[in-house]
Amino acid sequence: MRKKIVAGNWKMNKTLQEGVALATELKDILAAEKPNCEVIIGTPFIHLATLSNLLKDSVIAVSAENCANKASGAYTGEVSAAMVKSTGAEYVILGHSERREYYHETPEILKEKVDLALENGLKVIFCIGESLEQREKGEQEAVCKAELEGSVFHLTPEQWKNIVIAYEPIWAIGTGKTATAEQAEEIHAFIRKCVADVYGAEMAEDTSILYGGSCKASNAPELFSKPDIDGGLIGGASLKAPDFKGIIDAWK
Ligand code: 13P
Repeated sequence: MRKKIVAGNWKMNKTLQEGVALATELKDILAAEKPNCEVIIGTPFIHLATLSNLLKDSVIAVSAENCANKASGAYTGEVSAAMVKSTGAEYVILGHSERREYYHETPEILKEKVDLALENGLKVIFCIGESLEQREKGEQEAVCKAELEGSVFHLTPEQWKNIVIAYEPIWAIGTGKTATAEQAEEIHAFIRKCVADVYGAEMAEDTSILYGGSCKASNAPELFSKPDIDGGLIGGASLKAPDFKGIIDAWK
């Protein structure tokens, strides 16, 4: 049985103090009322060690939002997968469209990052998704398949067990424009079929595929009710504990 997951992606938000306050609030809320899904928060590097420690005995796992495509050495300003792992973080988000677009992360670079993350014992939330222009041309399936082929379909079945896929249509990120539950389900089912073609039906059934893009408490129940949508990767609505909790409650 695949995991149901609600994961936050704080992006470049929250000072250390603000992040500690938000994580503490969330920890207390979820200690009082156990979630029906796995809960992950993705944070900037500076929060990882403190939050991993703070959330050690909680139901919340911590994720980085990136890691380097090099193992170690003279790469000023970079943070390696081994360093992320050493903070106590369990996950790393890779392939986010903002990293692909603003930091020119190519499929090859992402493949290196994925390999290093897995080698260092991290689980990977790997993001894929088409732009508005690509959607208008009906290219969403080809784009998603190419992004999987470019960076993760070389993995062994054993490695694949540590991959979570996040489908995030770029036109829905931070725009308030959500894919309809039907649009999302259609592509999630396609993604699962692509996984089945490479790893077999059983592994595809066990793969969690999250939806991301203006997901909030009001639309999460409908999205999560679809058979191939296993949860969400949440940006804006992960920055306030009640909003994030509202999405977690969609699994009730
Ligand atoms: P929003 O939820 O703010 O649209 O962001 C989605 C996202 O990019 C999560 O990774």
